[in-house]
Amino acid sequence: MSRQSTLVFRERGKTNTQNVKNLFLNYLKKPSIFKNKEVLTESFFPDEILHRDNELMQISSILAPALRGYKPNNLFIYGGVGTGKTVCVKLILKQLEEIVKKNKLNVKPVYVNCKLKKVADTEYRLLAQLLFEIGIVVPDTGLPTDVLYRKFFNEVEKQKKIIIIALDEIDALVRKIGDDFLYNFTRINTELEKGKISFIGITNNLNFCNELDARVKSSLSEEEIIFHPYNATQLRDILKQRVDKAFNKGVVSDAVINKCAALAAQEHGDARRALDLLRVAGEIAERYNSDVVTEEHVDIAEKKIDLDGVTESIRKLPRQSQAVLNALLKLTNNSNKPVTTIEVFNVYRDICLKNNLRVLTTRRVSDLLNELTTLGIINTRVVSKGRYGRTREISLNIDSDVRENVEKILSLNFN
Ligand SMILES: Nc1ncnc2c1ncn2[C@@H]1O[C@H](COP(=O)(O)OP(=O)(O)O)[C@@H](O)[C@H]1O
Ligand SMILES: [Mg+2]
Repeated sequence: MSRQSTLVFRERGKTNTQNVKNLFLNYLKKPSIFKNKEVLTESFFPDEILHRDNELMQISSILAPALRGYKPNNLFIYGGVGTGKTVCVKLILKQLEEIVKKNKLNVKPVYVNCKLKKVADTEYRLLAQLLFEIGIVVPDTGLPTDVLYRKFFNEVEKQKKIIIIALDEIDALVRKIGDDFLYNFTRINTELEKGKISFIGITNNLNFCNELDARVKSSLSEEEIIFHPYNATQLRDILKQRVDKAFNKGVVSDAVINKCAALAAQEHGDARRALDLLRVAGEIAERYNSDVVTEEHVDIAEKKIDLDGVTESIRKLPRQSQAVLNALLKLTNNSNKPVTTIEVFNVYRDICLKNNLRVLTTRRVSDLLNELTTLGIINTRVVSKGRYGRTREISLNIDSDVRENVEKILSLNFN
């Protein structure tokens, strides 16, 4: 909300010191919109996971044999973002852990979030984390990884345990360290006699499995479960479940909940997005000094979330991709009219020369354009030019107000 003008006011005859003080005092005086905002964030664990009974039962019954000392089949879980994969697996592993403790069983569930840098940035870190989970502490660096593997397997064997390792966002891990580690685990697993290791791989990337080494793929996906997107009714239930805990009474109407649910359902059926919409709408209502959240606040929230999302992903792009995008921005100059790859390339080359950047081949630039398409930042369309063959038309896929922001970011990075 960089251009939020409603808050910037100055009462006549008052110093800005007084204005600032009054803003704080008024804020304190007003009844709060939120009761507990945290309820709408990822860190909150819902009492009840809605509309996922089948998935919960399926996963639990795949893992249950561990309780009798059998190695559960490896399991692969995939589905779009915000479809409840993480929350379901965490609930199941927590229940499993409780039962294991109570009955003193030799089973150890381990959950690893592969997106966390400190946990799984390198093969070494991953192994160190897994060792830590089974009670072995190794130095932060310095040992050869095969020593770590051996330590891990010896310990599993010694403890005679069934270790169930859930690797959440496993695609992020494989992108960083390759899929050799999975191969190593599956291979050595077959040599274990007393201990056993099972994997649960979780990913948002539906194509991930196909990118894996064939041996790893077949071993990892002995079982597969897909999490489908939520529809608007299901999202509404998920929001309703939290509304009373998150907001004060009378602040959020059914119409607002329905709107958040409908918008998120249209997008990807993503529960995270529905919760974000409601939270951000609440924050906006608060900033506008409103007593209630309105549907208009939800509209503004949607724009803000998109804007933040696009600017964030553009900030994170490698410099070469930013240069390609910058070329496209310059070419399309305030319109979304399509241009060709060659036009983009020519402007891109000028930008590189001006900025001391290596000029990549047209082929590589073409790859970068594909990546930008996958990220949803641009659109590409192949059009037939009759007997002159086919050409690609490229256009920007961002709103004009987002465009302004993107131009600002890129103008800071390039001459
Ligand atoms: N069925 C559900 N019932 C209640 N809350 C849910 C449900 N599914 C997802 N959520 C909530 O939505 C957010 C995203 O869910 P998450 O499990 O992280 O999705 P994924 O791992 O598939 O991307 C979390 O805050 C989670 O608590
Ligand atoms: Mg997740």
